[in-house]
Amino acid sequence: MSEIISLFSEKGFSVEEMVALTGAHTIGFSHCKEFADRIFNYSKTSEVDPTLNPVYAQGLRKLCENYTKSPEMSAFNDVFTPGKFDNMYFKNLQRGLGLLMSDQAMMTDNNTRPFVDLFAANQTAFFDAFARSIEKLSVYKVKGGKYGEVRRKCDQFNIVQT
Ligand code: HEM
Repeated sequence: MSEIISLFSEKGFSVEEMVALTGAHTIGFSHCKEFADRIFNYSKTSEVDPTLNPVYAQGLRKLCENYTKSPEMSAFNDVFTPGKFDNMYFKNLQRGLGLLMSDQAMMTDNNTRPFVDLFAANQTAFFDAFARSIEKLSVYKVKGGKYGEVRRKCDQFNIVQT
């Protein structure tokens, strides 16, 4: 977590802004390989990461059992309301239901936990902080002219070369 905090801070983002932005994980999904280390062979003493809710960990192990042969296997980032932009992601972290190591670590770290607790308790506080932070991110080092372009569709150049 301290590495993530410094990566964001080098770019001018505070801990609160980083936690708010990562709240984007309230939607979307992650491939099993991104969290496999947490659910298979975690350590010498524990098969799964002990910060994970054990029932959730078993569900993820079942879902990802063949992930090396089926690399497309994925899990929702927010297990309860995966398609809704809300503060459930933060409530999940409080219950050990953070999917990625970097998600769950925000609950362990003393710098980030107060913001997790704030956003879990107060959805408006999350929405306000997210709106401010994503607006700031959206103008961070925007490339234009000969250096690049803002894409209309994220997976395509605006003018497709033929
Ligand atoms: C704190 C640092 C962050 C880390 C380490 C991280 C890591 C990841 C990883 C590993 C995935 C899964 C990718 C995959 O399996 O295809 C993911 C998904 C996602 N991340 Fe992050 N992320 C971070 C911050 C952010 C931020 C700041 C945003 C946006 C403001 C964001 C938005 C998303 C979204 C929307 C998805 C789901 C993508 C989909 O469904 O296709 N993440 N993230």
